[in-house]
Amino acid sequence: MQMWRRLVAGSLLAITLLTAACGGSNEEPAEVPTGEVSFKKHVQPILLRNCVGCHGGSAGLWLDRYETVMEGTPRAPVIIPGDPDASELYLRITGQKQPAMPIGGRKLRPEQIETIRLWIAQGAKDN
Ligand code: HEC
Repeated sequence: MQMWRRLVAGSLLAITLLTAACGGSNEEPAEVPTGEVSFKKHVQPILLRNCVGCHGGSAGLWLDRYETVMEGTPRAPVIIPGDPDASELYLRITGQKQPAMPIGGRKLRPEQIETIRLWIAQGAKDN
C-alpha cells in the first residue's frame, strides 16, 4: 500500500517536472502581483526559467541570485533601482535594446515584463 502511494506520488512529480520543463515560459500561470513585488517569489522564478540557461555561470552576467543580478556585468549594473527605463535588463526584455532577451527565444509575456518593471520601480529590493 505504502509503496503504491510512493510510486503514484513519484510519477505525478515526474509528470509535473516534465510538463514544466517542456512547457516553457508560456505555460506558467502568471499575473502581475498586486502590492509589493517580491524578488524571491515573483522575479527570481522568471529569471531561473528563462535566463539562467545562458546567464548561470558564464557570459559575464549571472541571473541566478539576487546578489549577482544586482552586480550586473563586470562593466556595469543591469538594474538601476527605481528606474526601469535606465536598467539594461529591462531594456533587453522589452526589446528597446538589441539583442533582445531571451536571445533567440520567445519574448517574456507582458505580465512577466510588467512584474520585473514594477520590482525595479519599487526599488529592486531583496525581498
Ligand atoms: C540563449 C542564451 C541567452 C538567454 C536565454 C538569455 N540571454 Fe541575455 N545575453 C545572452 C548573450 C549571448 C548576451 C550578450 C549579447 C550582447 O549583448 O551582445 C546577453 C546579454 C544580456 C544582457 C546585457 C548584458 C550587458 O553586457 O550589458 C542582459 C541585461 C541580459 N542578457 C538579460 C537577459 C535576461 C533578463 C534573460 C531572460 C529573460 C536573458 N538575458 C536570456 C544570452 C542569453
